[in-house]
Amino acid sequence: MKKINNNLHNGCSEKHEVGAIGNFVTNLFKTKNPDDMIESANKGGLEKTLGAFDLIILGVGAIIGSGIFTVVGIAAAGSPESAGAGPALVVSMVLASLACVFSAMCYSEFASMIPVAGSAYLYTYATMGEFLAWIVGWVLILEYLVGYIAVANAWSGYLIQFLKGFPFLPQWLTNPPVWLVNDYSSALDTLAKQGLDPAGVIPHIAGIPIAFNLPALLITILMAAILIKGIKESTNMAGLMVVIKLAVIALFIITGAFYVKPENWVPFAPNGFEGIFMGAFIIFFAYIGFDAIATAAEETKNPQKNLPIGIIGSLAVCTIIYVFVAIVLTGMVPINQIDAHAPIAHAMRLAGQDWVAGLISLGALTGLTSVLLVLMLAGTRILFAMSRDNYLPSILKTVHKKYKTPHVITIMTAIICIFGSLFLNISTAAELCNFGTFTSFIIVCVAVLILRKTDPNRKRPFRVPFSPLFPILGIVCCGGLMIYSMQFLTTSRFLFPLWLIIGVIIYLTYGYKKQRKMENNEN
Ligand code: ALA
Repeated sequence: MKKINNNLHNGCSEKHEVGAIGNFVTNLFKTKNPDDMIESANKGGLEKTLGAFDLIILGVGAIIGSGIFTVVGIAAAGSPESAGAGPALVVSMVLASLACVFSAMCYSEFASMIPVAGSAYLYTYATMGEFLAWIVGWVLILEYLVGYIAVANAWSGYLIQFLKGFPFLPQWLTNPPVWLVNDYSSALDTLAKQGLDPAGVIPHIAGIPIAFNLPALLITILMAAILIKGIKESTNMAGLMVVIKLAVIALFIITGAFYVKPENWVPFAPNGFEGIFMGAFIIFFAYIGFDAIATAAEETKNPQKNLPIGIIGSLAVCTIIYVFVAIVLTGMVPINQIDAHAPIAHAMRLAGQDWVAGLISLGALTGLTSVLLVLMLAGTRILFAMSRDNYLPSILKTVHKKYKTPHVITIMTAIICIFGSLFLNISTAAELCNFGTFTSFIIVCVAVLILRKTDPNRKRPFRVPFSPLFPILGIVCCGGLMIYSMQFLTTSRFLFPLWLIIGVIIYLTYGYKKQRKMENNEN
């Protein structure tokens, strides 16, 4: 009898276990109805102030930055880890832009259909369920905040270059201590290049070396303050910065055209396809940012019409500008003389146009500032959407009474960026940012295909043309560039999976439980 009881008991507990696992799996794939998302966003209270033009400004503000002012030199001339594209940089740019265009169309289909803050995170929630949505949100945080750290580092470098142009300024401004304008690893690299002993230069407190990027810290505080004040003010300011950076790029293209020597375009592709593909992978960083527009969907007037115009329009404007810059740059300077740090200003110096070079440094500084603003804006909006879904503590979703902006999240984001810039150097941060972006692009393309099947009748004010071909091409282009790059990378290839594992642990120990608690309270 005892035996029978035991068997019965075991049978029950097995059933119970199978039931629990079944529930767990069902919960992981629980999707959210897009209509509920729109309704909850309408209750959320973010003000709708942005039109199509504002969005294009926001997009160009986010896109044109350290990519075209710095990374373009590496893509053309190469680095110890990757072959350069040479004059075929133009082809690399078009390839990178193609990968973006297919993804941009998928973003537009979603953004016009579900115009709420949260972008790829919410699109995944609507199609692939709770767990993957969390992973996408987690990856987007990586894209925006780590991308921010990369650009803040570049901003700090350009500021020092700019100040060096004013010899009458005090020495501590034009030549600040290495440990005050770099993260620790970059400070070590710089000192090694100068042949100096770090122990004699970097101060220690209680045995801990002190090195931090003070300009990056100050610009982060300023960006956070502007974003708390209000998104409309932010785009007004971004508008001014966009005009300045477009003006200096136009100055480069027009002045530089007079110094082009066609013989510099031969040979066209010195490193063949390898150079072209690695160039495309590297210059992809220059296009990151258009997806940030989708995160401002909730603050957009008539989003069904304005979002696709904003997303595809800003991408088109940037591609045209980049192609002209590539043609002029590779025509002006022989490929082995292209500078890896400030290639555009350097080309002007070689042409004897020092004043143009000075203006370009100022424009680069302005351009980087607008990228910082939009990246932080996008990062805060993703966190806002995730806290609204109870994946993060509810204090974070507080909206400022007067300014109607998520100020608690903005302050937290600034603190994370400041903390991150203590440890990450530019190249690792940029590579990680690329990984995060590729992943989110691929998932959005997959999500479009899924929702077309599961909810074919939903109103789609903008439809990706030639579906499923275009979304599939987006997946192939982004996935191909991501896999191709892996063979050349070191630190980021390890840090990216680590970031994903930390995300899964947080979801299982906090987000998953919080969701179930909320569901039980509702029932
Ligand atoms: N596209 C941005 C830049 O080039 C990230 O700085």
